[in-house]
Amino acid sequence: MENVGRRKFLGLCLGGVATGALAALIYPLYRYLAPRPVESSAGKVVIPLNDVPEGEAKFFEFAGASAVLVKKRGGELVALSAVCTHLGCIVQWEKDKQEFLCPCHGGLYTADGTVISGPPPKPLPKLPFTVANETITIG
Ligand code: FES
Repeated sequence: MENVGRRKFLGLCLGGVATGALAALIYPLYRYLAPRPVESSAGKVVIPLNDVPEGEAKFFEFAGASAVLVKKRGGELVALSAVCTHLGCIVQWEKDKQEFLCPCHGGLYTADGTVISGPPPKPLPKLPFTVANETITIG
């Protein structure tokens, strides 16, 4: 009788492990197939204007690489490659300073992508964009 209880318990445990393993396999596939919050069609990325508050930056994928849209304090928009021009690390937005920091070797860029200090040899490349109907279209 006691063995039946252990078997049931072991069965439940194995069922739980199998369910967890299945979820671990399916979740990445779901994330890959699920629609992204930023739309992308024909090489263009569309971001609702309200998605980027003033002084904030929104990172996204553009043409297979990391890119970023900044709404500077005052409302001016800037779209840039987020790939550091030194050795290719992805820059981070420092909201307090309104600058980009490359975490790899400390490269610093302005919100416009101009190099302030550190090893980056060139500014962050700018990306073309248009604004219409409360959306920003990059590319
Ligand atoms: S890769 Fe960015 S500073 Fe070196």
